[in-house]
Amino acid sequence: MTELVLHFEDVGRGKPLLLVHGFPFSSTMWENQLRHLAPSARVLALDLPGFGNSPPSTRVPSIQAYAEDCVALLDALDILEPVVVGGLSMGGYVALAFARHFPERLAGILLASTRASSDSVEGKSGRDQAIANVQAQGIEALVNSMHPKLLAPGTYAKQPRTAERLKEIMLSTDPDGAAAALTAMRDRPDSTDLLSELDIPALVIHGEQDGVIPIHEAEQMVARLPQGQLVRTAHAGHLPNMEQPAVFNQELGAFLARI
Ligand code: MLT
Repeated sequence: MTELVLHFEDVGRGKPLLLVHGFPFSSTMWENQLRHLAPSARVLALDLPGFGNSPPSTRVPSIQAYAEDCVALLDALDILEPVVVGGLSMGGYVALAFARHFPERLAGILLASTRASSDSVEGKSGRDQAIANVQAQGIEALVNSMHPKLLAPGTYAKQPRTAERLKEIMLSTDPDGAAAALTAMRDRPDSTDLLSELDIPALVIHGEQDGVIPIHEAEQMVARLPQGQLVRTAHAGHLPNMEQPAVFNQELGAFLARI
């Protein structure tokens, strides 16, 4: 059995909320949420293997394995009650895998800037290209190609510090960790049919200017989720939690209070 080493943040007291970052980010992308929600909840945010301060793993990559890492973290902390799991983009794929494989551990779900559908044929070949690029050229090439597409145009113009912070977070990704995650995302199953079975509180937050995953994907998820609520975030692209943290925190805080 290979040893799993996971870096994580654990702040506040109250209902547990586990936050899962997107690609290629880390728990640091949640720093504003950790600070804001700590007075009212126990907020956990992990670095998936190969991201932030967690070393990469040599296992076969899969989104399910990331969901198992989340459960291993909860078990290690003796958090056995159902928790709210929140994920952004790739983190949303992990949250959906958590819901599929560990429904008894889930009290509610936050799906931010994500989709339930699997990769298209073109999407899969894009992943193969990105894997080859990151292996040949390192993480900087991946960051330079992705970074200009992630935020709303107004965020780059008016919040240069946010754009810079995001780049720093992305550059902390290990190239092997990035290649593993690209493989995991390429091979993930479609979760569309799962949505109608998820009869738990579900908050879907999406930036109106998300150029990576269009907002109609969020609308389609909410249409299937029995208890789904959609928050459209104005002036935000793919990272509404970093671009419009006040709106994001208020909606997430109100959601947690209702559970
Ligand atoms: C992410 O932000 O996690 C990724 O863009 C998701 C993806 O590539 O499917």
